[in-house]
Amino acid sequence: MAIKLTWLGHSAFSLDIDGHNVLIDPYLSGNPLAPAAHESLSPELILLSHAHGDHLGDTVAIAKRTGAPVVTNFEIASWMENRGVAVTHGMNTGGQMDFDFVTVKLTIACHSSSFPDGSYGGMPHGFIVTAADSGLRLYYAGDTALFSDMAMYGDERIDVAFLPIGDYFTMGIADSLRAIQLIRPRYVVPMHYNTFPQIVQDPSHWANRITNETDATPIVLDPGGSFTVE
Ligand code: NI
Ligand code: MN
Repeated sequence: MAIKLTWLGHSAFSLDIDGHNVLIDPYLSGNPLAPAAHESLSPELILLSHAHGDHLGDTVAIAKRTGAPVVTNFEIASWMENRGVAVTHGMNTGGQMDFDFVTVKLTIACHSSSFPDGSYGGMPHGFIVTAADSGLRLYYAGDTALFSDMAMYGDERIDVAFLPIGDYFTMGIADSLRAIQLIRPRYVVPMHYNTFPQIVQDPSHWANRITNETDATPIVLDPGGSFTVE
């Protein structure tokens, strides 16, 4: 009973959960850090945090090719249906849905959400993903600032937190440390850094601070790299 996390660069992750694959924010085409082409991915479920192009990415192409349902907000789900995506779940903040191998809840994110053409993309979100068999729980914060209600997500006993550390568009390193103190995860994985000039960060500096200043274990992955949590 384990979850294998693979970083696909930026905020894109592939999760192998008890033999099922979940893809989050699959931005691969045009992503300078992407270790794979989207054609190589075969998710059973796609989670999409918001409409910005560096998250929306290849979602439509992957969903159409695989038939994987897309879990996202109501506005993005409607937009996807208009582009031929067969199965969407247009949820909203605080909503939760059971799939047979995971439960997914949409969390608050302090950010914005518009489509690449500037049209309204609904509210941005993060996700709490709980594996049905193992009970392992992940908190994927999405693009967000630090906010104090992260402590309430921490009360749900988070095994792995995924936090942006790039600064400029989201929280940076200093606020990610405060977030970890609120969330109290066993492991923390950095994301949303080094993709663009505005978000260049030193992940080893971040990891040293995590080790020295929090109780969490930092997991810094190379693009394409994996970590298994048990
Ligand atoms: Ni964004
Ligand atoms: Mn972003």
